[in-house]
Amino acid sequence: MPATSDDENENPMESWLDERRTQAVTDFAQTIPVLYRPEIELHPKVAEWADCTSESPTSLFLWGPLGVGKTHNAWQGVRRWVGRQFAGNYRGTPVVQAWRSTALFDALRPDDGGGTPKRLMKQLQTADLLYIDDAAAARVSPTGWTQERLYEIFDERYINRLPILTTCDVKPDAISHIFGERVTSRSAEIFRGGVVYLGGADLRRGGASS
Ligand SMILES: Nc1ncnc2c1ncn2[C@@H]1O[C@H](COP(=O)(O)OP(=O)(O)O)[C@@H](O)[C@H]1O
Ligand SMILES: [Mg+2]
Repeated sequence: MPATSDDENENPMESWLDERRTQAVTDFAQTIPVLYRPEIELHPKVAEWADCTSESPTSLFLWGPLGVGKTHNAWQGVRRWVGRQFAGNYRGTPVVQAWRSTALFDALRPDDGGGTPKRLMKQLQTADLLYIDDAAAARVSPTGWTQERLYEIFDERYINRLPILTTCDVKPDAISHIFGERVTSRSAEIFRGGVVYLGGADLRRGGASS
């Protein structure tokens, strides 16, 4: 059946944007790990961030104990955020970089030539949204090399006001051993107004009753 895209009553620009939005959200949803694909009721603060209103914080630091739904809220929050990028000034389909912290730190480790692939660094610095899952799980190089690269990413995004979403099982000021002092200090500004605690029981153990 043909798509009913040219409803006469609809503004052509609106319906064009609608199609782009639907496509972008569908494409993004396919990149979500299967466990986190079902839609859930988002924590109100995650929803507020995703809706990108003038009151919304730019970046979000979602923290709390294990199994309370941080990663699920993050993926579904990003999905909602993608849809919201088509309101207001349309700037093309947003580019999202989503990484588990362990994989990100691996990717940032110096290659045989002693550097990080420049292309990856640029993508991490300029993506419309950078999502780092489970920040405190990363293992860092003893030399601080990866922390320096992380600082390059955070600082570039900070000065361009590009959002970062991270989930973590400890508070922002308790991950300096992972992020390094400089990123931890930057984080205080980046996540100002966007530090959200997710509490409750471990849902993996069927803890919905408390
Ligand atoms: N609001 C929710 N409703 C139903 N299931 C949820 C909800 N939030 C999380 N879950 C499920 O609970 C489990 C733990 O969630 P997860 O996001 O991985 O926790 P965390 O990242 O905090 O450790 C997963 O199986 C997830 O799909
Ligand atoms: Mg998680």
